Amino acid sequence: MLCGVLILAIAIWVRVSKDDQEIISSGDEVTNFYVAADMLISVGAIIMILGFLGCCGAIKESRCMLLLFFIGLLLILLLQLATGILGVVFRSESERVLNSTLYENVKLLRETSEEAKVFQQALIEFQEKFKCCGVVNGAIDWGNNFQQNYKSCECPTVSDSSCIYYEGHFVYKQPCISLIKDFVIKHIIIIVGIAFGLAVIEMLGLVFSMVLYCQIGNK
Ligand SMILES: *[C@@H]1O[C@H](CO)[C@@H](O)[C@H](O)[C@H]1NC(C)=O
Repeated sequence: MLCGVLILAIAIWVRVSKDDQEIISSGDEVTNFYVAADMLISVGAIIMILGFLGCCGAIKESRCMLLLFFIGLLLILLLQLATGILGVVFRSESERVLNSTLYENVKLLRETSEEAKVFQQALIEFQEKFKCCGVVNGAIDWGNNFQQNYKSCECPTVSDSSCIYYEGHFVYKQPCISLIKDFVIKHIIIIVGIAFGLAVIEMLGLVFSMVLYCQIGNK
């Protein structure tokens, strides 16, 4: 219950305080941000209500509350299970979508639109961290924007064999695509791990609330 309150409070605070900056920054980023904050608000509210039902139901020995707690928890567990199954079934499909999205986004590196700038900035940070350049074909992906953005592609040492000379700069040879895929997969594995851990806790909650529910009935 306290976790739910905390998540809810932080999400609402972030959502409200962001309003001041709306005038300065606009576009997709802000909308995405709001969607994320709203989702967090719903998650926080659900956790809070469930926590309240479980906690009060146990203290007051209320069968009704315990049953609602049980049903709510069961729904979440089933939802998690369904997401997991869909993920496994459509795995190759998701990989294909990720691949074609990345191939599509190569175009963005040569553009100057706002949407393109967002992607470029993200890639610049990725290049710096993972020592790669471009998405699919290397530095050439940057097209005319290369001269403005070469810094994150640049090799620290000139005599490195993993680097090539391109348009006046010594840059990383390796394109980022395989590294981006590895990065995404690694994070999906972490999320799956967390989901499994949560599922175990949820099952314990189901068992405990059911045991309590039955014991209250036997009194
Ligand atoms: C990724 O997509 C590109 C272009 O759509 C295709 O040529 C390539 O074979 C795909 N790679 C994989 C691993 O699916």
